[in-house]
Amino acid sequence: MKIEGKEYRTIWFDEKNNTVKIIDQTKLPHKFIIKDLKTVKDAINAINTMEVRGAPLIGGTAAYGIVLAILENKDLEFIKKSAEELIKSRPTAINLQWAVHRMNNKISMINSSDLFHVALNEAKEICNEDVKFCENIGLNGLKIIEEIYNKKKDTVNILTHCNAGWLATINWGTATSPIYHAHKKGIPIHVWVDETRPRNQGANLTSHELNEEQIPNTIIADNTGGILMQRGDVDMCIVGTDRTLSTGDVCNKIGTYLKALAAHDNNVPFYVALPSSTIDWNIKDYKEIPIEERNSEELSHIEGKDDAGNVKKILIYPNNSKAMNLAFDVTPAKYVTGLITEKGVCDASEEALKKMFNK
Ligand code: MRU
Repeated sequence: MKIEGKEYRTIWFDEKNNTVKIIDQTKLPHKFIIKDLKTVKDAINAINTMEVRGAPLIGGTAAYGIVLAILENKDLEFIKKSAEELIKSRPTAINLQWAVHRMNNKISMINSSDLFHVALNEAKEICNEDVKFCENIGLNGLKIIEEIYNKKKDTVNILTHCNAGWLATINWGTATSPIYHAHKKGIPIHVWVDETRPRNQGANLTSHELNEEQIPNTIIADNTGGILMQRGDVDMCIVGTDRTLSTGDVCNKIGTYLKALAAHDNNVPFYVALPSSTIDWNIKDYKEIPIEERNSEELSHIEGKDDAGNVKKILIYPNNSKAMNLAFDVTPAKYVTGLITEKGVCDASEEALKKMFNK
């Protein structure tokens, strides 16, 4: 998708310099900075500090992290240790371990001389596949938006939480892909963007990327969705996910659950968009999902631009207050209207998911 009119992916390999290029998302929307990752430690750090974030993108970054590890040292012990460190860099999104395991399987029987090229091709394949899957998610979700538009014959109002946009994937996004496809088809869309405290991925990233594509959107405080749904101002919700269980339970950015409850109470369809790389086929009980707890400074401090144009970080809490920063919650399957996947739309249930993915 576009930034300042130019097409980008969120991550790519620079063949000339053997480095990985990323868009540093901690600097958006105020600064657009492309950063080089040169070592596996750089990749781990980029994931952990959220220079790259969003489940599919951290999967893609971890895949390139293995490539960087191989460039540094072809010793199998080093690569194995690097893979373990990459998996630990963020615990909730399953795409991370999925991508590392896929890379490990691909390179496990390969000669040292071929290791780099095989790994690089696989990392590229993981990213290209994600682009294709997200595009298909868009085409499948488009049908739902079209149906609403054909009945309403007026602007379709869609509420989304966090950033499950192209910045969270390699391109297109998951939740935003149906929105981009509908916009390209000429369907009038307006997006309610949850600010998404504490890191404001909605305000800083989703609104920014929708602006760049000229899609009308309005940022709202996280607690505003409920009254908008009561007023009939939301036609549907679409969110992303960091890990969806085969039972259909959906783990996503903290606050998603409350939106699903409000949607349920107001008969607003609540859809979750995801590529199959986000499905956890092993865990059955959502309480077993590792929920990331991040530094409380993400709550107590806020970053923004002052009137002179300088980006500053300031404390907004009382000096001695304690804060707690859980990054994700789980929406039980019963509140999910449907899952929009690369293969089609299905119920959030084990039966439907297994049928969809031939499991
Ligand atoms: O903590 P983040 O910003 O990585 O969280 C991202 C989300 O919660 C997204 O909704 C999810 O990763 C889906 S991305 C297509």
